[in-house]
Amino acid sequence: MIRLLKRAQNTLHRSLENHGALGTLRLVPRAAKSAVLRRVRRFSSKAREAGEIEARFDRAAGVDTAATIELAQLQFDGQTDKESIKHGLRYQATPIEVFDALLARSGIDCSRYELVDLGSGKGRVLFMAAMHPFRRITGVEFSPELTRIAQENAGKFKAPRQACHEIVTVCADATQYAFPNTATVIYMYNPFTAPIMERVAANLERSLRENPRDVVVIYYNARCPEPLDACSRLREVASQRAQQGRDDPWVIYRSTTSN
Ligand SMILES: C[S@@+](CC[C@H](N)C(=O)[O-])C[C@H]1O[C@@H](n2cnc3c(N)ncnc32)[C@H](O)[C@@H]1O
Repeated sequence: MIRLLKRAQNTLHRSLENHGALGTLRLVPRAAKSAVLRRVRRFSSKAREAGEIEARFDRAAGVDTAATIELAQLQFDGQTDKESIKHGLRYQATPIEVFDALLARSGIDCSRYELVDLGSGKGRVLFMAAMHPFRRITGVEFSPELTRIAQENAGKFKAPRQACHEIVTVCADATQYAFPNTATVIYMYNPFTAPIMERVAANLERSLRENPRDVVVIYYNARCPEPLDACSRLREVASQRAQQGRDDPWVIYRSTTSN
């Protein structure tokens, strides 16, 4: 920030010397436009780079997880809870570099845990998790179409360093899902808004009360952390909160009854 201000100050100084006050004023819109353009170019080249990394992952693993899909593009049968559809969020895959970074921040020994991805979409996280020695990996997705794509992907998935071979995908609403009774990592990438998160957090709290065990919750793009924050059986172990001005907030919780 300070470097930016210094650079702006130097530019202004040079412009006043070369063009005078009036000339500088006239130049401002052009300067602002080119600064914005520079940022847009830098942003799109980053986005292009990310797209290439994702395409490379899909090609190498023999899967198709990349393209974003809005819930409005999907067909739900009459059995899907209307509230879940209303408060559900679109399919978008966790960026490749994010999952491993968050897993590392949790500091866990994967071989002691199952992993459940709540809102697993086409299954990207299941395949990234399979590179770690989890006991079992389960994807829970309420869209029948996305579940079918995830199942096709699971059938084609190949990776020389695959460490977990038990990958299951279930078509279910996260609010109806019964958490495993073992040590579990629950992963979520912004799957739904507060009304659904409240129900999921209440289910998790009840499950931890009935069967105290080690549960780690990794919540990426954490837009509705409040119900999990309020969960008396969870404590935050690491976070990058939204109010810190970041565009990808995340929170990692661990059950207070762990070990
Ligand atoms: C942002 S995507 C995350 C996909 C995947 N977890 C990943 O990180 O690559 C959110 C997913 O949650 C699913 N979803 C939304 N509401 C749900 C619910 N109530 N139960 C199960 N899945 C849900 C959406 O269909 C979507 O596929």
